[in-house]
Amino acid sequence: MFYDLASSSWGSEEIEAMQRVIASGMFTMGENVRRFEEDFARKFGTKHALMVSSGSAANLVGVAALFHAGKRPLQRGDEVIVPAISWATTYYPLQQYGLRLKFLDVERDTLNIDVSKLEQALTPRTRMVVAVSILGNPCALDVLRAFCDRHGLVLFEDNCESMGATLNGKPCGTFGDIGTFSTFFSHHISTMEGGVLVTDDTELYHVAKSIRAHGWTRDLPKSSGVFEPKEDDFYEAYRFILPGYNARPLELSGAIGVEQLKKLDRMIETRRANAKLFVDLMKGDERFIIQRENGSSSWFAFTIILNPKMKTERTKVMNALKRADIGYRIITGGNFLRHDVIKYFDYECVGEMRNADLAHDRGFFVGNHPRDLRPQIERLRAVLDEAAR
Ligand SMILES: Cc1ncc(COP(=O)(O)O)c(C=O)c1O
Repeated sequence: MFYDLASSSWGSEEIEAMQRVIASGMFTMGENVRRFEEDFARKFGTKHALMVSSGSAANLVGVAALFHAGKRPLQRGDEVIVPAISWATTYYPLQQYGLRLKFLDVERDTLNIDVSKLEQALTPRTRMVVAVSILGNPCALDVLRAFCDRHGLVLFEDNCESMGATLNGKPCGTFGDIGTFSTFFSHHISTMEGGVLVTDDTELYHVAKSIRAHGWTRDLPKSSGVFEPKEDDFYEAYRFILPGYNARPLELSGAIGVEQLKKLDRMIETRRANAKLFVDLMKGDERFIIQRENGSSSWFAFTIILNPKMKTERTKVMNALKRADIGYRIITGGNFLRHDVIKYFDYECVGEMRNADLAHDRGFFVGNHPRDLRPQIERLRAVLDEAAR
């Protein structure tokens, strides 16, 4: 394809790392995953990092941990404030654990949660806010952190789309009590499938670690404080303390992650250079609403919303892109409230979802890659110009 949505970021280092794992004969979570976790925590400046099998699993394990840790664990029926645009598995664990969702619209230009409506969403039952930085673009994490601190709420940061982004110099994913990352193929680093949960809260980390692997104690130090160790090794080896999952990653993923993490800064630099070209070529053209950067974006992709003031049909633009061999897709999952699965949720909308609807109905994104995309972006610009004439 001339301009695809995503491409591989692996080189010979990743292939060699996989070959070392294959030669070792040890495939399930072990030394390589541990090394990746240590490197990840060091890179992002968090106390703990826990690798899991996907970003979705990181969200699931993270929410589960909040039901089993701390002095005030979450409870069924608690309310959680969420943006109307995110990926489906941002929301699923919230539904599965019986939380009530309060949806807020997104801002038209950043595509992130509209924080001006936070107070309106707050009730005595509110316990958590889920922050999502859409497609690399930091949401108002400083405002959300301050709001949560003021009201004693948990800040859960689903940062699965925004590794490498920063706000006021602080990495996205580290503003929350828990932050999650995805290392799926199209993301800023790729371990095939994979995800990471970060936290500075040691109890939460140990609880999440137990939940990652069957809810057992085996991976926890005896001093973790989340269980009372007993003398009998026979029973200790298979001792279950929490209703958990098997969300363990493979050693192959850990080994690839170590290599990918070394390349992250360079890959983000390239993504940002592509973004500069894209923004330079698109800015000032009223026909197209592009994502306004907040802080320093890691530019997962380039969003385009056809300005409703213009009458251009999205299908006309899609057809032109298709003819030009340029890949495109819906912005993340569009307005989540418009999906059939919403019927399973206990939820409420706080105000209208005008901007989420606009992105759903008139928006799309094209890919960004960790390599120079000048010819692709210039061609995209010409195709858009022609199609929206
Ligand atoms: C915001 C967000 N959360 C969670 C996920 C899930 O990540 P994974 O595909 O690794 O399960 C994604 C995936 O793209 C995402 O965009």
